[in-house]
Amino acid sequence: MNSGHVKIFDTTLRDGEQAPGCSMTLGEKLKISRALTDLNVDIIEAGFPAASPGDFNSVKEIADQNLGPIICGLARCNEDDINKAFNAVKSSENHRIHVFVATSSIHREYKLKMAKEEIIKNAVSSISLAKSLCDDIEFSPEDASRTELSYLAEVVSAAIEAGATTVNIPDTVGYTVPDEFDRVFRYLKNNVKNIEKITLSVHCHDDLGMAVANSLAAVKAGARQIECTINGIGERAGNCSLEEIVMAIKTRKEHFNLDTNIKSERLYPTSRMVASVTGIQIPRNKAIVGENAFAHEAGIHQHGMLQHSSTYEIMKPEDIGISKSNLVLGKHSGRHAFRKRVEELGFEADDDKINSAFIEFKNLADAKKDIYDGDIEALIMNIDTSIGGPWTLKSLEINSLSGEPSNAKVSLIDEKGTVYSKSMSASGPVEAAFSAIKKITEVNLTLKKFDLHSPTIGSDAQGEVTVNVEHEGQSYRGSGTSVDIVEAGSRAYLGVINRIIRREKQGIKSAPQNNNIHRAPI
Ligand code: KIV
Ligand code: ZN
Repeated sequence: MNSGHVKIFDTTLRDGEQAPGCSMTLGEKLKISRALTDLNVDIIEAGFPAASPGDFNSVKEIADQNLGPIICGLARCNEDDINKAFNAVKSSENHRIHVFVATSSIHREYKLKMAKEEIIKNAVSSISLAKSLCDDIEFSPEDASRTELSYLAEVVSAAIEAGATTVNIPDTVGYTVPDEFDRVFRYLKNNVKNIEKITLSVHCHDDLGMAVANSLAAVKAGARQIECTINGIGERAGNCSLEEIVMAIKTRKEHFNLDTNIKSERLYPTSRMVASVTGIQIPRNKAIVGENAFAHEAGIHQHGMLQHSSTYEIMKPEDIGISKSNLVLGKHSGRHAFRKRVEELGFEADDDKINSAFIEFKNLADAKKDIYDGDIEALIMNIDTSIGGPWTLKSLEINSLSGEPSNAKVSLIDEKGTVYSKSMSASGPVEAAFSAIKKITEVNLTLKKFDLHSPTIGSDAQGEVTVNVEHEGQSYRGSGTSVDIVEAGSRAYLGVINRIIRREKQGIKSAPQNNNIHRAPI
């Protein structure tokens, strides 16, 4: 077995996407799968094809790109799931089917109502079926960390004999602790025949805040694949964070004596992209990618840093792709420098997109003194949400006086270039602007959540607004950015309306976004 190397299995698009509020559109999933390819992950778990036709389609579209990493589809232990997973991933030259069944006594008794032997039979027949379709098969005994050790070893042995090439040990409910998980892996290594012939994998959830520590314990005990997500997004408290575990292995190389294929300088841009797409902002104090991760406020730290950065810094910001100064561009920067930074931040931009973004950049540079990476990301995201129309925001006029209703006059342009204007009043400026947009577009949305976040620093910083709305029983999410927060909200709102209209034109009636109602039960 390749002892010095750990494979990185990214499940942002499957376990990450399963988290409430993290559903993504097909376009967003394609964008993230390309960013994961640039990051050089070994395996992309692209989704759970049997969960819904939309999930099947997005896994298939990602596989069709033939990006290079192994594209994996999740399946329960039944024929239909396995066939769907295979059909979704097969167009990628490198593909994998990941089958799972729960093995703990709690799941056996209350969820599956199946006896131990039945579960083994089910797992073996499912792995055999999957193996008849594809060579690369991963098997997961769900809730492994709460499964009796001797039974777990039996299940794993049977899975290997049936043809599994990777066996993943999940801490499904984030219950284990490092020394206990170390014992689980060592027990399996000592008690399962032929375990050295397969890749042992680890999959941890963060309910007790130990997903990274538990995954590292597993790696120390012999796991050679880590399942993780960008920013640690995932069910409940999330999954093991990719950027944290990769940087732990890299920074403490002398301790782990292992490496990964990850291009660490792509970590920050990928993290920012996933935060923007999901609307799940990164806490300031988050390890590796949080805003404060490389900030040194305390005088004593600053003094040490000036003498030598290693006094208080164990990693360099450049190692994860944060530009040295962060203050990257200004009013006089040219198109070439702008394009270069856009590409460094991991965005794909054709000439049209660069041209539109560059005009916006110049407008922003007039409105705001310093342009940071966060501003550029927000700008590109704005262009992405407005592409495809049919509506674009022409202007927004707000009149607001404390204690009085607010008035908003909104002007929108449709795809034929006709301008429509409407004035509405409401108790606040955001509500007034949204009402005017609803009136013009005749799309009725219910606002469920309005989140405001600042992607950069300073009193002239832009506001990034994420809205969660409902339309005909479906949830949608959109985001928009501007130095004016009512305009940022209006852009977010209009982005969602455009998406709904485009989908309706394509004859797609339901467009689940931020909900899990189409999820198959796990
Ligand atoms: O947490 C879990 O057990 C899972 C499995 C499907 C691997 O996500
Ligand atoms: Zn999981």
